[in-house]
Amino acid sequence: MDRNLFGPIRLGTMEVPNRFVRSATNECLTDKGDYVTDRLAELYEALARGGVGLIITGYAYVRADGKSSTSQAAIYDDKFIPAYKRITERLRPYPARIVLQIAHGGRQSIPSACNGSPIAPSPVPYPVTKLTPREMTEDEILEIIRSFAQAARRAREAGFHGVQLHSAHGYLLSQFISPFTNRRQDKWGGSVENRARILLEVLKACRKEVGKEFPVLIKLNSDDCIGDGLKIEDAVKIASMLGKAGIDAVEVSGGIGDSFPSACRPDIDSPGKEAYFSDNARKIRLALSRSPESALGGEGSAEGEVLSVPVICVGGIRSREVMESIISTKKADMVSMSRPFIREPDLVERFRKGLAEKASCISCNQCWHPKGIRCAQIGKQGLGAMD
Ligand SMILES: Cc1cc2nc3c(=O)[nH]c(=O)nc-3n(C[C@H](O)[C@H](O)[C@H](O)COP(=O)(O)O)c2cc1C
Repeated sequence: MDRNLFGPIRLGTMEVPNRFVRSATNECLTDKGDYVTDRLAELYEALARGGVGLIITGYAYVRADGKSSTSQAAIYDDKFIPAYKRITERLRPYPARIVLQIAHGGRQSIPSACNGSPIAPSPVPYPVTKLTPREMTEDEILEIIRSFAQAARRAREAGFHGVQLHSAHGYLLSQFISPFTNRRQDKWGGSVENRARILLEVLKACRKEVGKEFPVLIKLNSDDCIGDGLKIEDAVKIASMLGKAGIDAVEVSGGIGDSFPSACRPDIDSPGKEAYFSDNARKIRLALSRSPESALGGEGSAEGEVLSVPVICVGGIRSREVMESIISTKKADMVSMSRPFIREPDLVERFRKGLAEKASCISCNQCWHPKGIRCAQIGKQGLGAMD
């Protein structure tokens, strides 16, 4: 396989022109009612023009009570499809692929979305909202599984190239796989197989709705970054189950709301601080690759490797040197960024033309804004405006 940052890669049936991913980022560019807007289409077009190979949209909530932040986009009803179509049609002339991230907030839902009564696998209080969620019944779990599958169908009808299930950062699916937030004793909790059951059922339900050909990716926590939370050993097992069940790619992240900002660490100012989940990505990649060594439980091999499920690494990746090393040392097959693309949507083209060696993002974590994400440093430090 071509291991160049600018070489193509296939995720299931989806051909991606290069190894650069725009990680899901809640852009806060919605209308009243949480319909996506033309401003959001402009933002994605800037990323496509700027050379990003795979654009993952911000969190789109699959049920009205699963919204986890203000100005988030909705996908819980067919009425949202036409607005998304305007986005996918606008991106059609570009080689970039675009995938809709589908999610439910569970205990991290905002109180206004769920009438102050969030649902979760178990009633573990959430310090941010100061609410204790209600434990879901089995019927509610089955209903949520159907909501994800319906959201995947809507994404396909809206012209997306695939969907990404959000099972990271402490949202509902990530709550199920975590021993910290999932204390159930029925078939949806306890052993790692039981905690992962919902992911496998969601994947199966999506496949039933959208077929085998439509790419279904996942963003998976590899570590909750909290004492009793999910650890890499369980994440490797879960990724392996998903691989066998036909997932098309795994993006490796970490952290939950209670351990914020472990997913988006601040002040990434040296190569040593970059790519903070890349060792976990490597472990997950090994579990998802078939090679003579990995089959025997060893460290994998360059020769004879048959990669079955590509792995995407996210979290603090900033310099070309680190990106190349992630790909060449097989920690992952693609590199994913969020904050750097808010500041420099044309970053990939700048790398390609040799105009930049690293992102100029300083990871100040001030990019979120209810009226649309933006780089808070632009205008300061004598830096230019983002186009
Ligand atoms: C403003 C903002 C919004 C984000 N929204 C999402 C989201 O909707 N879904 C998601 O999975 N991650 C979201 N993230 C996390 C990023 O996708 C990414 O995992 C994290 O920022 C680390 O990557 P980075 O160092 O390249 O920014 C968001 C991050 C930021 C800064």
